[in-house]
Amino acid sequence: MELTAAQMAQFDRDGFLIFPDLFSPAEVAVLRQEVGRLAQLEAEEVFREHTGGVKSIFRVHEEDGATRSAPFRALVRTPRVLRPVQQVLGGDAYVYHTKINAKPAIEGTIWMWHQDYNSWSKDGCPTPNMATFNVMLNDTSEFSGGLYIIPGSHKLGLLESVYDASTGYKLWTIPKEKMIEVLRSSPPPVAVTGKAGTGVLFHCNVPHASGHNLSSEDRWHIYVSCNAVANRPVLGEHPRPDWVVSRNWFPLPIEDDTGVVKAA
Ligand code: SIN
Ligand code: MN
Repeated sequence: MELTAAQMAQFDRDGFLIFPDLFSPAEVAVLRQEVGRLAQLEAEEVFREHTGGVKSIFRVHEEDGATRSAPFRALVRTPRVLRPVQQVLGGDAYVYHTKINAKPAIEGTIWMWHQDYNSWSKDGCPTPNMATFNVMLNDTSEFSGGLYIIPGSHKLGLLESVYDASTGYKLWTIPKEKMIEVLRSSPPPVAVTGKAGTGVLFHCNVPHASGHNLSSEDRWHIYVSCNAVANRPVLGEHPRPDWVVSRNWFPLPIEDDTGVVKAA
C-alpha cells in the first residue's frame, strides 16, 4: 500500500492517519486467535492489570522468544503496514517493539497522556523519526477505551515528562499542568474509533492517551512501533530490555500481503 501525496501531507499536518477496513475479517480472526493463545503465557514480556487481567503482551513479531507469533510476524511485514511506515520515516525501517494492549472488559485501565518519543529519546534514539502502526482487533468505541489523539500536536515537539507508576505498565507521561495547557491551546482531541481491522498510523511526538474500558468487550489492539534504521538508539549503560528496545535494527523486508492468513 502506497500513501498518496495527500495522505503524506495529512500525516505531516495532523500527525496521524486512519485506514478503515485495512485488515479483513478473516485476517482479524487469525490474529484474535493468537491473542487468546498469547494471553495464557507467563513471561517477562506479559504485563497484567493490578486486578490480574492481561494488559500488554510485548515482542510478538520475532521468530524467537516466549511471545513469538507467526501471524503477527507476518503482519509487521505486510506492505499495508510496512510501506506507509517506510514512507513517513523516509526510508528503511525496523520494528522498535510490538505490543498487544488487551484492555480487558471493565478492568482495562487508562493510558495517561504521553508522547512515545519521551521514552524513546531516553532510550537513546537521536531524532523523533519514529512512528507507530496500530491495528484494531475488535470494534473500538469511546466506551471501550479507544485512543485519543490531538490533531497537529506532534508540532509541539518534545514536552516535559514525569514517570507514572500507577498502572500495570510504568511509563513517562506529560505532567498535569503541562497537559492542561496543551489541551486548552490545541484543537479538541479526536476519539479514534473504528471497526476491527482499522489501522492507525501516528507520529511519535503526538500526545495521546486512552480511557478505561467500561464496555463489555475486551479492547484488543496491536501497536507496531517503528524506527528509521538510520535512527537506531545509542544505548546507555543500562538499556531497557530487547523486548521494548529491539536490537534487531536491520531493515525489515516487505513480504507477503497474504502472510497473516498463511501463517495461521
Ligand atoms: C500506547 O499509547 O502505547 C497505548 C495506548 C492504548 O493502548 O490505548
Ligand atoms: Mn503510546
